[in-house]
Amino acid sequence: MKIAFANPGDVNAGVVVVTAGEGRKLSPSAKALDKKTGGAITRAIKASRFKGNVQQSLTIMVPGGTKLDRILVVGLGKAKDIDPKVAQNAGGQIYVSLSNVGSSSVTVCVDAIDGSNMKPSDAAAEIAFGAKLRSYRFDKYRTKDKPDSKPSLKTLKLQCANSAKARIAYARSEKIADGVFMTRDLVSEPPNLLYPDTLAKRAKELTKLGVKVEILSEAHMKRLGMGALLGVGQGSVRESRMVVMQWNGAAKKDQPIAFVGKGVTFDTGGISIKPSAGMEDMKWDMGGAGVVIGLMKALAGRKAKANVVGVVGLVENMPGGNAQRPGDIVTSMSGQTIEVLNTDAEGRLVLADALHYTNDRFKPKFMVNLATLTGAIIIALGNEHAGLFSNNDRLSERLTQCGLDVDEKIWRFPLNDAYDKTLDCDAADMKNISGGRGAGSITAAQFLQRFVGKTPWAHLDIAGVTWAGKASAVVPKGGTAFGVRLLDQLVAGYYEKK
Ligand code: BES
Ligand code: MN
Ligand code: ZN
Repeated sequence: MKIAFANPGDVNAGVVVVTAGEGRKLSPSAKALDKKTGGAITRAIKASRFKGNVQQSLTIMVPGGTKLDRILVVGLGKAKDIDPKVAQNAGGQIYVSLSNVGSSSVTVCVDAIDGSNMKPSDAAAEIAFGAKLRSYRFDKYRTKDKPDSKPSLKTLKLQCANSAKARIAYARSEKIADGVFMTRDLVSEPPNLLYPDTLAKRAKELTKLGVKVEILSEAHMKRLGMGALLGVGQGSVRESRMVVMQWNGAAKKDQPIAFVGKGVTFDTGGISIKPSAGMEDMKWDMGGAGVVIGLMKALAGRKAKANVVGVVGLVENMPGGNAQRPGDIVTSMSGQTIEVLNTDAEGRLVLADALHYTNDRFKPKFMVNLATLTGAIIIALGNEHAGLFSNNDRLSERLTQCGLDVDEKIWRFPLNDAYDKTLDCDAADMKNISGGRGAGSITAAQFLQRFVGKTPWAHLDIAGVTWAGKASAVVPKGGTAFGVRLLDQLVAGYYEKK
């Protein structure tokens, strides 16, 4: 879908979108169109339950007095509550209402709204961003789609005062959408085609945007002593990889910030094998890595003025003749030894080495890791929030606020010594599961904390939010890319040179 901006002008063909506020209050463009159509909009509103609230809309077909195909009236709710989120959600709603109706072009009239402090050019850019985010489709393996089942909408045009400003604002958002789309692509790929080596090659494509990308082979990781990560991958015929991405958008001496992702391209559970029902979901057990790669794409695409490191640990967790056994003891790069009591608690083993490596090599200001780490986080939070675990209040507060800003919400859980002790072990420095039934997401986080030293660190457990069973305002069903927009916002808000 192409997105275009223009200054206000008459629309004489295709589909027109106008807005209304709470109490059925028509925008100036809606009023003008109402007049032109002999009052069709007011009559249609009267004949319906449309109140002008958010997420409400109303369609008027082939309105008299015009050559238009249809008019869509979209509710924006209370004028004073209109913010980027409301505008993005309206954009998503416009896309859903009009992408499949048969018209190839839609024009949205974005007016100044009495009592709103959002400028029309900003609102137009956010509406476009919301529509763009909602328009994502993963259909590359559908070879028999009929033309009628594909979206008909080709161009979304936004008319507003100062459209040049809207175009500039949207150009930045579009780079973020590029990152989001890359993450969704990676998370959606099937696990026979996306495995550590092919995922690493996808990350390598970021070189084109000026990202420095290194791929560490198994031999290299062995030399570095990454026994925890390599143990997880040893049962697979696919070789493990680690990818190190660097975006240097600030001065050389500027200490970097770092993002680290769990990239289990398929998690069978290994010898502690999972039940077969729903196991196909474990193709998206590389969701954390997918977010880190998409985030690097967004940051490089919009040329963020910050030094950012992205590290992803890529393995396939398979049973097999050479697979890790329950009871194996591995030595991590940090020197700490781990008794692997459950081969299905593998994400923490991968991250143990990825976090230590990142901390040791880059001495970052902070590290944020993302991982589809525990089923327990879905029991606790469902699909509404990701779990946040951190050794640093300031970083936690910033992440939480950014989550609210972009509607990727996170909820903090406690960490403490009593939870940590449940990982103590007779045979090695620690075991990889607590063995108890409670607090599974917290004990997993405590495990990670043993590998981050004193560096400010946050862990986002995204197991419940990486894949959407149903669509929401700006996220279609499927891979969500939850975390890309959140962390882009963190970088933009707190770590970029102005
Ligand atoms: N990848 C899973 C966690 C997961 C579950 C992600 C469901 C998405 C949806 C992880 O590797 C895992 O298997 N965790 C175990 C840990 C347990 C063995 C301590 C779990 O949550 O059951
Ligand atoms: Mn597992
Ligand atoms: Zn896993």
